[in-house]
Amino acid sequence: MAYPDLSPRHRAVIDPLRSADKIRVLFVCLGNICRSPAADGVMKSIVADHPGQASRWVIDSAGTGRYHIGQLPDHRMRVHARRRGLELDHICRQVTADDFTDFDLIIPMDASNESRLRELAPSPEALEKIVPMAAFVGKAMRADHIPDPYYEGAEGFELVLDLLDDGCRNLFNILTTKP
Ligand code: 4NP
Repeated sequence: MAYPDLSPRHRAVIDPLRSADKIRVLFVCLGNICRSPAADGVMKSIVADHPGQASRWVIDSAGTGRYHIGQLPDHRMRVHARRRGLELDHICRQVTADDFTDFDLIIPMDASNESRLRELAPSPEALEKIVPMAAFVGKAMRADHIPDPYYEGAEGFELVLDLLDDGCRNLFNILTTKP
């Protein structure tokens, strides 16, 4: 993704992070068992392929809902991720108020997660940290959100992984290119 593809508002959030020593990223979806733990795994795998970046990144995920707290990711997501060489072992947790101070970038998967995060954000500074995942997905993929695969078939899980792979690679490239 060309860096200018980001909107001015999103660039204002991302720009300072390009020269930061630490980049702390939290991916957020509803259940924290499908999309956000997959994003967490995809991002960690991209960073692991660049050993010079390893100490710079803190990556985690959480859910706006509380239905699956304590659980591993959905078995269907784990199967589809494993086919791509990713082992997803995140334990589901719910977003907390502390997340808005512990992370620099909070990335919801869809508009519903985003509006819930906006309700939870404790300050104007915290609100600024919210940038939707679709902002990083290349235009060619025609995605304005990462669709919930929970009630979908195999294609839904594959689509999520394709979108996350594209979006996470773009996010990584933007944040590892010198300003
Ligand atoms: P996720 O998917 O938000 O990508 O983790 C879902 C998981 C569980 C439910 C909904 C979406 N649920 O209703 O239990």
